[in-house]
Amino acid sequence: MDRLDFATISAYLNGAHLTRWHPPGHEPVLFMSERAVLEPGKAIRGGVPICFPWFGGAGDPSHGFARISPWSAEIGSDDRVSFSLIDNEATRDTWPHAFAATFDVTGGDALKLRFSAKNTGDKPFTFELALHTYLAVADVRNVTLTGFADCDYIDQLDDNRTVTQQGEPTIAGEVDRIYQNHTADVTITDPGLSRCITVKKTGSRSTVLWNPHIAKAKRLDDFGDDEWPQMLCVETANIGDHAVSLAPGASHETTVRIEVDHV
Ligand code: BG6
Repeated sequence: MDRLDFATISAYLNGAHLTRWHPPGHEPVLFMSERAVLEPGKAIRGGVPICFPWFGGAGDPSHGFARISPWSAEIGSDDRVSFSLIDNEATRDTWPHAFAATFDVTGGDALKLRFSAKNTGDKPFTFELALHTYLAVADVRNVTLTGFADCDYIDQLDDNRTVTQQGEPTIAGEVDRIYQNHTADVTITDPGLSRCITVKKTGSRSTVLWNPHIAKAKRLDDFGDDEWPQMLCVETANIGDHAVSLAPGASHETTVRIEVDHV
C-alpha cells in the first residue's frame, strides 16, 4: 500500500490514515496494532481512522466509507500532508451526496489535524465524524484522565443509556462511551511513560472514549489479545444530536491539536 513518510509522521492513502506521530524527545504517541491489516479497502487498526460520513453501525460499512477509501494527497514540505476525497461512484452507491472532504495533517512537536467537509451538491445533507485516535499508553489501567467530569455520555455498552460522568473516568474494564456536548481539553497522564498527552479540539461536540479490554480484544481479528492495555481511543467527533447538517455550498471544519509533555 502507498505509505507517505515524513520526519515525524507516516500515513497511508488508504483512508488518509495517519499511522505514526513520533515527536522528538518522546516515544511514538499513536498506537498501532501489530496485527493491523494493511490492505487497500480494509480498515487499519490503530493510528487515526477517519469515521465519515457516519459513526459506528449507523450505516454500512461500519464507521463510514472514508476510512477504507483511496484518498489523494498533496505533500507539503516539512511534515505536512493534505488529503482529499470527493464523492465518486463508489461513495454515491452508499451515500447519495456530493461532497469534498479534506484532511490536513501537520507533525512536529505537536500534532495538528484539520478535517473539513463541504456540501458540493444541490441538496442538504447531515454527516457524523470521528477522528478515531488511538493513543499509546504504557498501561491503560494506570493512566489518569481529566476533561470528562460532569459530562453526559451515551453508554454503548448499556443500551445507549445516557449517564452523567461522576468524577473522572478510569479504565477498569471495557469502555465505549460517547460524551455529548463535550468540548473540553482532555489530558491523559501516563506514569509508565512519564508523559502527559493533551487533546484540544474545535468544531467538535462529541468525544468517544474506547478501550476494548480483554473479551472484546479477543473478538477483534486485527488486534492482539494482549494489546488492549497499551491503547486508549480519545476520538474527536460529532455524533447523533451533534451530527453536522450542511446546506448546499456550506462547509464545516473540525480541528485537533495533540501535545505531549514529560511529567
Ligand atoms: C469505537 C466504537 O469508536 O470504535 C466501538 O465506539 C467500536 O463500539 C470501536 O468497537 C472499533 O470499531 P472498529 O469498527 O474499528 O472495530
